[in-house]
Amino acid sequence: MTRSYNIVSIPGDGIGPETNGAAVRVLEAVAAKYGFEPRITEYKAGGSAIDAYGIPLPGETLQAALDSDAVLLGAVGGPRWDMIEAERRPEQAILGLRQGMHLYANLRPATLMKELGNVSPLKDPGKIDLLIVRELTGGIYFGKQGLYKSTEKLFDGTRKGTVAFDTETYSEAEIERILRRGFEFAGKRRKKLTVVDKANVLATSRLWRKIAKDLAEEYKDIELDFLYVDNCSMQLVSRPASFDVIVTSNMFGDILSDLAGQITGSVGLLPSASLGNPGMPGLFEPIHGSAPDIAGQNKANPIASILSVQLMLKLHLGEKDAADSILEAVRKTLADGARTPDIAVHGDEEDKSSITLVTTEEMTDRIVANLE
Ligand code: IPM
Ligand code: MG
Repeated sequence: MTRSYNIVSIPGDGIGPETNGAAVRVLEAVAAKYGFEPRITEYKAGGSAIDAYGIPLPGETLQAALDSDAVLLGAVGGPRWDMIEAERRPEQAILGLRQGMHLYANLRPATLMKELGNVSPLKDPGKIDLLIVRELTGGIYFGKQGLYKSTEKLFDGTRKGTVAFDTETYSEAEIERILRRGFEFAGKRRKKLTVVDKANVLATSRLWRKIAKDLAEEYKDIELDFLYVDNCSMQLVSRPASFDVIVTSNMFGDILSDLAGQITGSVGLLPSASLGNPGMPGLFEPIHGSAPDIAGQNKANPIASILSVQLMLKLHLGEKDAADSILEAVRKTLADGARTPDIAVHGDEEDKSSITLVTTEEMTDRIVANLE
């Protein structure tokens, strides 16, 4: 019997339909080659769902996601919906899916591909190959928030006026389950785990440290260290090749993963996998946003979305050969010189002759043609 998977595709907004469309094309092509069947159904979320239904995450989209094997998401958001009140903003679709599907572990691998030449903005990046394990359903993203009018004053008598607050909250159980994922991924890689926090200031970070130290007893083969987030962002620039697995909170992971994306060339290259407990559906999306400035222009880099399919096949659906085939095809396409504008930057003039500027569709065509 053919292996068959129920995939929910959510193109979203901005460049989302273009990059997610590319991902779906690659998925269908690789499936035909490797003898499995993706049954893909499309649903709306984000701005396009606000336009169609008045809300960012329709119940039927969440239900379909929960009933699926995996979700492929483009990107959501754009200036058109920026004036909407917080609870109905397009970003609530992503947050609602993450929370509603209990996707607490977000994996964001960042690798500097040698096929891209000197695309890193760093002078001497070395061999960057790191994995950020970001906690995804807790912390300040989901803590208590509010807005109120204060009658208090600052020291010089100025009225405080309106006050807004966000709260960072983490429980032992939430910290332990994400740290375990970090240790486990480190075990499958170079056995180095860095816990990134702000333990010199935050109570939540101090709890992360304590639990990490306790767990280290169980994972004796893993070299564990700790870095403050400010120091980590500096070291990602000064010695990126020394990192293996970074495990961190929701907000720190959000920030550091954009940085990790940029030092490997472009955020347009970085995929992500969001996972819950084993056996539950996962969600796969590029780390980049909806890039409204280039939407509809056939300019976006589809590689982050295409590599999200690769992660889905490798980490989640057990289609390892098909996953490897996608990675090889992407590498070959880049080695042949195909470049979307975001990665068509070069330090020396000589290289320019060997690269070809391509559209989103041409990049996808070439990757599909290179699948083996
Ligand atoms: C990301 C994005 C999201 C986040 C936004 C769109 C809510 O920046 O996936 O990194 O902050 O998690
Ligand atoms: Mg982000």
